[in-house]
Amino acid sequence: MNAARSAASAGGSTGRPVLRVRDLEVRFAVKREGLFSKPAQLHAVDGVSFDVAPGRTLGLVGESGSGKSTTALAAARLIPARAGQVEIDGTDILTLEGEPLRQHRRTVQFIFQDPYSSLNPRLRASEIVREPLDRLGIDSPAERANRVSELFRDVGLRPEQQRLFPHQFSGGQRQRLGIARALASRPRLVICDEPVSALDVAVQAQILNLLRRLQREHGLTYLFISHDLGVIQHMCNEVAVMYTGRIVEQAPRVRLFTNPLHPYTKALLSSVPSADPARDTRSERILITGDPPSPIDPPSGCRFASRCPIAVDRCRRETPMLADHEPGHRVACHRVGVPIAARPVQSA
Ligand SMILES: Nc1ncnc2c1ncn2[C@@H]1O[C@H](COP(=O)(O)OP(=O)(O)O)[C@@H](O)[C@H]1O
Ligand code: SF4
Ligand SMILES: [Mg+2]
Repeated sequence: MNAARSAASAGGSTGRPVLRVRDLEVRFAVKREGLFSKPAQLHAVDGVSFDVAPGRTLGLVGESGSGKSTTALAAARLIPARAGQVEIDGTDILTLEGEPLRQHRRTVQFIFQDPYSSLNPRLRASEIVREPLDRLGIDSPAERANRVSELFRDVGLRPEQQRLFPHQFSGGQRQRLGIARALASRPRLVICDEPVSALDVAVQAQILNLLRRLQREHGLTYLFISHDLGVIQHMCNEVAVMYTGRIVEQAPRVRLFTNPLHPYTKALLSSVPSADPARDTRSERILITGDPPSPIDPPSGCRFASRCPIAVDRCRRETPMLADHEPGHRVACHRVGVPIAARPVQSA
């Protein structure tokens, strides 16, 4: 398939990807208004394909409800996929059962947004970090204790903090604990789902830098989710932009930030300050009005059509496929290259 081929070429490196996702679909059954109506289908993820290369970070960015977390949960097989393939190091994990599935659990770990609600309040910090090793039967008890000490050191927590309970840690320290726990089983893929969104800005930078250092030191591979483009720019080698359950654009970071092609990406970027003041994209602000279409029985054609400033009839009829515009730069739009009239920003 075209989408599959272009996704493979967008991996940004040679060799087998750690994570390979193809044509992933996730739907949720939701109640419809009315007493006797059949349940409706909410299309949360609709034909998503991407690769994450070893030791690299792929960012998923998009507004709330665009399907980022659902993509990640299905890629980790924490929720069922309706269709598609998910491979970790070449193994299709959606077909695993029994012991192979249990063994697979150690290879993908999550770091969640809210480190408080994701940590068991009744366990001591050392037990929280050790728990995946106990559950998955990894290493001997003595080795597990050593591993926990090593992890505490790695994430910048002090040895005596092993005895404390989660509520005795600050938000940033709790996220360090969440990171130590995620790394305990030496996963092949770490999924970071909005890992700093709940933290103060000053603490955010510390945690992001910690994640980068750990990646360098241990060769970690990240799928990194954020709605915050500044965070994405700081963390990712490659960026995929999601809109209502689909990837609309994907490119290496610098390319995406300097030469966005999809009208939605352009609008997203024009709303945040650029890291490069010479190219402050805010000088031409593209305003998008209205809301995304409902993900329940979504319309055919381009899902961005109702908000797109350059939509034409074809957009509402034909779904634009994600295809290589240039090697490694994929975009799903019928009108790539058509300029968007931007509103100059008034200087204060
Ligand atoms: N368990 C669920 N049941 C029903 N709908 C869900 C569930 N989880 C997510 N959704 C819906 O799926 C869509 C994608 O959600 P999500 O993946 O959480 O988006 P994001 O992480 O980008 O904010 C949204 O419309 C959301 O309301
Ligand atoms: S396909 Fe049409 S509606 Fe969709 S983003 Fe491109 S121009 Fe806009
Ligand atoms: Mg989410």
